[in-house]
Amino acid sequence: MKSRWYKDAVFYQIYPRSFCDSNGDGIGDIRGIISKLDYLKDLGVNAVWLSPVYKSPNDDNGYDISDYRDINPEFGTLDDWKEMIEGMHARGIRLVMDLVVNHTSDEHEWFKQSRSSKDNPYRDYYIWRKGRGKDGKRPPNNWTSRFTGRAWDYDEATGEWYLHLFSKKQPDLNWDNPKVRQEVIDICNYWFELGVDGFRCDVITYVSKKEGLPNGKFNIAMCGDEHFVIGPHFHEYMNEVNEKSWSKYDTMIVGECIGCNMDRAPSVIAEDRNELDSAITFELMDVDMKWSFFPVKFNLKKFKAVQSGWQNLPENCWNTLYYENHDQPRSITRYGNGRGIYRKQLGKMLAVSYFMLRGTPYVYQGQEIGMTNISLKQEEYIDIMATRIFTLIGKFAPFLLPVARWAMSKRARDHARTPMQWEDKTGCGFTTGTPWMKVNPNCSDINVKSSLNDKNSILNFYKQLIEFRKGNEIIRDGSYKEYFPNNSKVFCYERALGDKRYIVICNFKEKKVPLNVDEINAKGAKLRVCNWPGQDKELGDAILLRPYEAVVYEIK
Ligand code: NOJ
Repeated sequence: MKSRWYKDAVFYQIYPRSFCDSNGDGIGDIRGIISKLDYLKDLGVNAVWLSPVYKSPNDDNGYDISDYRDINPEFGTLDDWKEMIEGMHARGIRLVMDLVVNHTSDEHEWFKQSRSSKDNPYRDYYIWRKGRGKDGKRPPNNWTSRFTGRAWDYDEATGEWYLHLFSKKQPDLNWDNPKVRQEVIDICNYWFELGVDGFRCDVITYVSKKEGLPNGKFNIAMCGDEHFVIGPHFHEYMNEVNEKSWSKYDTMIVGECIGCNMDRAPSVIAEDRNELDSAITFELMDVDMKWSFFPVKFNLKKFKAVQSGWQNLPENCWNTLYYENHDQPRSITRYGNGRGIYRKQLGKMLAVSYFMLRGTPYVYQGQEIGMTNISLKQEEYIDIMATRIFTLIGKFAPFLLPVARWAMSKRARDHARTPMQWEDKTGCGFTTGTPWMKVNPNCSDINVKSSLNDKNSILNFYKQLIEFRKGNEIIRDGSYKEYFPNNSKVFCYERALGDKRYIVICNFKEKKVPLNVDEINAKGAKLRVCNWPGQDKELGDAILLRPYEAVVYEIK
């Protein structure tokens, strides 16, 4: 059944709340997406990952679902959704939806039933335990929520605790219950029947928890991982859903594989495992970040080692290539000086550095125009992660608040969620109303309209790169070899197929960097891609790379 179409795909991720608002209520919506389908087609992408649009009380902006089969009214209706998918398919764009089934919203009917009494048929849909201590008022174990604090909440009605690895409004489902797994299968099949082409499975590596839910090793920020990352029944459960749903359609199933490193990845994504098709890894993000929010110094050598490790996975594994999504800061700010005079070169260099790798590239909305992080005051952050961190630190260690502010200014999820910058006007062309989240003031010079009119824009470069990848067998199937792994300024690699090779050279520094290339057998190299306008150069014994320069040479 599977054509593995995703190997030829370039994805665009839409975070619907911030993409385009059609009705002036300040919140992006499905009709807004419909109005931008031609933009996506023109960009050249052929698949969309849409963050959740299901009914949700929005404790975590849609990642807390209260009805898996319907659309959140603030985004529109199921009919709007049908029009959207039809419009995508008519333009050759596939749609991958977010599947958030490690947890539901506490406002989902299942949870309402489950918490109502110990003998309710839905009780076992979630993970309930007695507390520790004589009065049972201490949580069942020491696991922590990914949003800080303990991972358990006490429920007065039945005198037990329920597990939530995210917010207390996101209770974890009990995947050990076969009925829960059947619900997941039914939900997937429901959307497949409506034409969906695949799912991005939210924190899927967390679904199986170790029996007995033992205490985790002490860790100040995140405790318990060793008992639920790719837990004891994970593979079995993936096989089951795969067999009864995912394999029955021509799908792509990409898992958000938090905690899964390159050593474990093949057990989850190798084609003969019949589990997931690809993994969104966090290893690259962890190079310059701890506990999903704390910045640590960027080290290009480590970054390259992670990229190369994943590129060197066995043939039957497929990579997900990304620098940005709705949980990560803007790459142009993260990996360089996104507001400097070389910002365009930087945005383009980053694009080249991952677009030439083996795997499916994802472009997050706004990345294609070089949207940057935003500068916010403490009270302006609205995402649950940042606000929880400020509250907790304010309560227990207020002297650390300046550190928290510094960390959030670099890593908060808010940076990725500012409204899409369509044009230089109030509401940045995103809305005619009051945007749900602050617009980045740099919209006046960073926006789609001006990028379209500038032939040297990051946007136009993305278009060329997407076109370059299309049908390009060297990029899709070629082997990978890294050059100069110890060079801390330049990322350089080769992709080869048959008698053709590409040499990709990316200068991650905002200054000129010499590179001695005699290690590369580069006779007759032809420049195919370059991010500095109007220049050409030979690939000789030595080259002088300009600030943030990226070049791709072809050698026959
Ligand atoms: C990962 C999602 O990408 C993130 O936005 C969300 O908060 C958590 N999973 C919980 O669903």
